[in-house]
Amino acid sequence: MEIEINNILVIGSNGQIGSVLTPALREIHGKSSVVASDIYKKQDNADGLFEILDATDFNVLENIVKKYAITQIYHLAAILSAKGEENPQLAWDVNVNSLMNVLEVSIKHNIKKVFYPSSIAVFGSNASLFNTPQNANLNPATIYGVSKVAGENLAQYYFLKYGLDVRSLRYPGIIGYQSLPGGGTTDYAVDIYHKAVSGDEFNCFLESDTRLPMIYMDDAIKATISLMEASPECIKVRTSYNLSGMSFSPEEIYLSIKKHYPNFKISYKPDFRQNIANSWPRSIDDSSAKNDWNWKPSYDLKNMTRVMISKLSKRYKSA
Ligand code: NAD
Ligand code: SER
Repeated sequence: MEIEINNILVIGSNGQIGSVLTPALREIHGKSSVVASDIYKKQDNADGLFEILDATDFNVLENIVKKYAITQIYHLAAILSAKGEENPQLAWDVNVNSLMNVLEVSIKHNIKKVFYPSSIAVFGSNASLFNTPQNANLNPATIYGVSKVAGENLAQYYFLKYGLDVRSLRYPGIIGYQSLPGGGTTDYAVDIYHKAVSGDEFNCFLESDTRLPMIYMDDAIKATISLMEASPECIKVRTSYNLSGMSFSPEEIYLSIKKHYPNFKISYKPDFRQNIANSWPRSIDDSSAKNDWNWKPSYDLKNMTRVMISKLSKRYKSA
């Protein structure tokens, strides 16, 4: 029997998801099979193989793929929704041109599988706000969403034209204790836990009733790995799968935290991110993911709050 060898490259490994997904992949595939990479180096990059990579530079990417005989790429590098509105050209360059590099290098060097994260930001005013379906019409209001729609279509194009096995999820806002988010509209839902645990008041940049789809980090990692491990015939959606964990508003997450910290206080001062949030769905229909590769989230708001507070309070106490 032939034993499959996977050499995995994670691009954007220092980010909110990459810093949790990279150790999870090392746990499964072995430390020496997972190469982390990012545009900058940080201290804990010494924990395993690491390369500095600007993913918009095809030659550097190709050299790394050749050096480690890479067979799978997780392409996480991106400029997120809020940062993207501040610099749309950079967002397009990083989000679309780096993906083109990843797809081209994959064809040239026989990469077996590529993971490309999309987002709920692909939806706009043409999609229904509640239980947004898999095949909704996509007219995003942000450059981030526009770049993700382009990315989803590129993923499908490379699959159809070259047979490249690109798989993708439309992540909702991701919430975890391990890492900080990097400039999105859902970032408040991580920050609020840090403020509560450190005894500070929280000033929210969204209105109290702005409901958005969210997911706990463990569920996001579980979904990513399940999708990538599913057999190819199960993957029926080649643009990107809707994915959902829970939906809540700032007021609802505040009340769930207040059960643990009765004196915790919140105030609201919406900024430009309110318009971004208003253009996104309130909840997502992820039945295609459930039917095709058995997706099932494990965390609701109550369970997530319990774990976030327990993990963060240990960290703040030992600091
Ligand atoms: P992040 O901003 O925390 O991390 C992105 C990483 O990419 C950073 O470490 C950054 O240094 C790196 N990077 C930026 N430009 C680069 C370049 N040119 N070359 C190489 N690396 C570069 O983002 P994240 O939250 O970890 O998101 C990862 C992916 O998931 C992104 O594609 C994002 O759009 C998608 N996503 C995230 C969320 C979320 O809530 N976190 C939701 C939906 C989709
Ligand atoms: N969490 C991301 C953002 O807010 C959604 O893609 O940008």
